Amino acid sequence: MSPQPPGNLNPAPADPSEAFLTSTQPTTDRDWWRQAVVYQIYPRSFADANGDGVGDLPGIISRVPYLASLGIDAVWLSPFYPSALADGGYDVDDYRNVDPRLGTLDDFDQLVAALHEVGIKLIVDIVPNHTSNRHEWFVEAQDAPKDSPARDRYIFREGDGDGPPSDWDSVFGGSAWAQLEDGQWYLHLFAAEQPDLNWEHPEVRADFLKTLRFWSDRGVDGFRVDVAHALVKNLSEPFPSKTTLPRVSESNGAHPLWDQDGVHEIYREWRTVLNEYDPPRSAVAEAFVPAARRARYASADGLGQAFNFDLLQADWEYEKFRQVIEDNLALAEQNGSSSTWVFSNHDVVRHATRYGLPKDPSGLWQDGKAWLLSNGTEPTVDVELGLRRARAAVLLMLALPGSAYLYQGEELGLQEVGELPAANLQDPAYFRSKGAEKGRDGCRVPIPWTVDGLSFGFGSGGSHLVQPKWFGGYSVEAQEGDPGSTLSLYRKALAVRRGLQTGNSLTWADGGDFVLHFTRPGGWQSITNFGAAPVELPEAAVVLASGPLEGEKLPGDTTAWLI
Ligand code: GLC
Repeated sequence: MSPQPPGNLNPAPADPSEAFLTSTQPTTDRDWWRQAVVYQIYPRSFADANGDGVGDLPGIISRVPYLASLGIDAVWLSPFYPSALADGGYDVDDYRNVDPRLGTLDDFDQLVAALHEVGIKLIVDIVPNHTSNRHEWFVEAQDAPKDSPARDRYIFREGDGDGPPSDWDSVFGGSAWAQLEDGQWYLHLFAAEQPDLNWEHPEVRADFLKTLRFWSDRGVDGFRVDVAHALVKNLSEPFPSKTTLPRVSESNGAHPLWDQDGVHEIYREWRTVLNEYDPPRSAVAEAFVPAARRARYASADGLGQAFNFDLLQADWEYEKFRQVIEDNLALAEQNGSSSTWVFSNHDVVRHATRYGLPKDPSGLWQDGKAWLLSNGTEPTVDVELGLRRARAAVLLMLALPGSAYLYQGEELGLQEVGELPAANLQDPAYFRSKGAEKGRDGCRVPIPWTVDGLSFGFGSGGSHLVQPKWFGGYSVEAQEGDPGSTLSLYRKALAVRRGLQTGNSLTWADGGDFVLHFTRPGGWQSITNFGAAPVELPEAAVVLASGPLEGEKLPGDTTAWLI
């Protein structure tokens, strides 16, 4: 069955909320990022201005009024740099340029200006662990003889007999080593087209400082740091076998490839550069490390903030949610940062779909990967339930202290595309795992702007990932002006949040079983009912709810804000 979006879900807007519909201008102070709402754009799939089927910067510029209408504080732009797209642009050929298929540096400057004009900041992705194999340094290293200095910027080693230097696996499957014709091997923690840099090399360090300055000078407000925990490695030999390596999630710095303590020295240097600007440029680390080790990435003399994927990796369960929220608020307080919250991004199955799937029989969180492997057929997604929970989840997240990261299309309640044909897949995770994983293309399908038309308004050409027929029902056009739509809910929630947001803290109230109830300074209450039975609401005015109320009661899988 096609995942049709349910009709009007929003209760009639309650009058008190109108008082909070204030200006969309974010603060300009140095702490703007602490409670910001950041909207992630995957540029090749957002809007296509030149009709070649791939999104581009002029496309984004044309949609700045839409971004302003959402009420977000910042945009995070996934890589837009020249790239052969061996990993969706995370294989960067040149860090200080724009992929000609996406535009020019001039377009980039215009995008910065257009966003700033409407009060939206811009965060760009920076990919320091690896370059692409087309980067000038790697081309030089490949052409240079063994043991020449050109190879020192990467991690080259001799093999162990005929095989690679160690049995380590790449994240996308297969060996983490690839061989050149002259017999030497290089390390790549991701795809073979993404050779890992040697961060002991002074030129590597200096070049990234140059890149930080290059984009900061162009007006970029912050950086999202890709696999921030991988840069420094302990490569003392003999290399330990993968069977003896600790799990990264429990390694406490003992894993030779991930989360080595030495990485923080790099970020201290970066912070000095970022602080040369006024306001200082923000940075957020993508670091898959245990919660307690995340704090160091988020420290004031480091990047300042780190992604917390704990809610993203949790099933829709109130005890789990409460634990994650408590732990992360405590951690953020300890290190003077603010927490981050996220449910979806370009690497995971969209949460409106995950929440509509039954619990995973393994007991692990439902990541949707098995469902993807069945091309979105097994088990059946309960689309209505998934959307209902996703709407409740976003109100809960937006009421939390800290910053919220939204992924393009989630404001439409968009479902994952499970039915992409194999011939259309692009993700190296699919190819390197030899089909054991379907990969991440299903959340990267260009978003629908119009109800019909070629590529649903994405552009005048086609779409580089095939959009399913049911996409039109989720389009901006279908939802615009409908007070019950998910798009309307997001807009309203962001506007109300802006008016209610004060101190970076919360106080828990006793909501009873299956209920998360907390109050923010100033009297803003958020109540989420994770259970099936409706619960009484406290005596206060409801300013917004994620779905219709049952008289005075809050139904299951619904969040209400009260004041
Ligand atoms: C990060 C990105 C992901 C990419 C990987 C390698 O996890 O989010 O998309 O494939 O790094 O750069």
